[in-house]
Amino acid sequence: MRSVITGTGIGVPPNVVTNEALSRLMDTSDEWIRVRSGIQERRYADPGQGSTDLGVMAARNAIADAGLTPTDIDAVLFATMTPDHMLPGNGPLLQTALGLRDVPTFDIRQQCSGFLYGLELADLFLQSGRYRRVLLVGAEVHTGFMPWHLGWDTLIGQSTREITEAERAENTLTRDRTVLFGDGAGAVVIEAREGDTGLGVIRLHTDGTGAGVLTMHGASFKRRPFVSVDQIQSGETLPFMSGKEVFRSAVTLMPQVVREVCEASGIAVEELDLLLVHQANMRIIEGVQKVLGLPPEKVPHNIERWGNTTAATLPILFHECRTLGLIRPGMNLAFTALGSGLHWGAAIYRT
Ligand code: UT7
Repeated sequence: MRSVITGTGIGVPPNVVTNEALSRLMDTSDEWIRVRSGIQERRYADPGQGSTDLGVMAARNAIADAGLTPTDIDAVLFATMTPDHMLPGNGPLLQTALGLRDVPTFDIRQQCSGFLYGLELADLFLQSGRYRRVLLVGAEVHTGFMPWHLGWDTLIGQSTREITEAERAENTLTRDRTVLFGDGAGAVVIEAREGDTGLGVIRLHTDGTGAGVLTMHGASFKRRPFVSVDQIQSGETLPFMSGKEVFRSAVTLMPQVVREVCEASGIAVEELDLLLVHQANMRIIEGVQKVLGLPPEKVPHNIERWGNTTAATLPILFHECRTLGLIRPGMNLAFTALGSGLHWGAAIYRT
């Protein structure tokens, strides 16, 4: 019995924001963003549109793609670092919006590795026989982090006013992070099926000594009060990232864990037909590809159109590869991701 992805779908927010548009808000350029990250554009949600809304869109598409109806789903795993509310999580909101039965919903907080952690749980749920059809969603609305009061409404056509020099200077303070992230959602339906296709070896790792390299200092229950105007004004409600350290960990640990799952599966790395890497930076994706000695065509990317969508990147990439016909029967696929935690891992998937 294997855990098989029987349906995929994505949820796409409406606003396309180019690098050029961002350069009107801060001291950045299309060239810097393209060269350093590979991103050309990203999507932003409409005001009032949350990660649950995008997740619901993606889930509806995935359930229909699997030939099922929402009432067939036995359990939900929802991975996001940008939930609609601190509490409850997105799971119950999605359950109601989709019209699921009163099935359990789990909220996953492993950021960029959320989808991989979700795959592990889905696999354990299905293999134990506890559930038969699991819905796994990865969805993010990062725009909530953006300093919206500094003229960001112009990006989605909600204002035509000129940005002041002071606003431009303030936006520039967080440009190393704000240009990287986009909004989006991906979902998969996973079912237990006889046969030898589906999820294979999964390996997950956490190293809490790296927690400080990608974290958010504000909006913390260690603070009194947990969030304040001061925290917002000083940028503490935006993720803090030590970009170079995360970069170094990503190009070292993702290849290591891909080798680990290949070895445990008895396949050589060069026998992988496709490697789906978390889409945080084109230079990281190429770095992982080169360290593993894979040709570029085996490591597809869509970061140029989406930016980094955290928990949504792997399900969106998987869906797009399927839609493009890149995933065919008899293939060895691997997923890998690394992000805040540090959490990282990889999974083998046989089609
Ligand atoms: O999914 C979560 C995991 N996250 C990641 O995997 C991200 C990993 N890290 C990265 O992708 C890269 O480190 C970044 C894209 C974040 C930064 O790239 P970098 O090559 O490490 O650039 P840097 O931070 O060393 O910055 C180089 C220069 C600096 O100027 P000086 O000090 O050399 O004068 C920055 O101030 O680029 C400047 N800079 C910018 N310039 C224009 C930083 N951000 C921008 C920007 N536009 N948006």
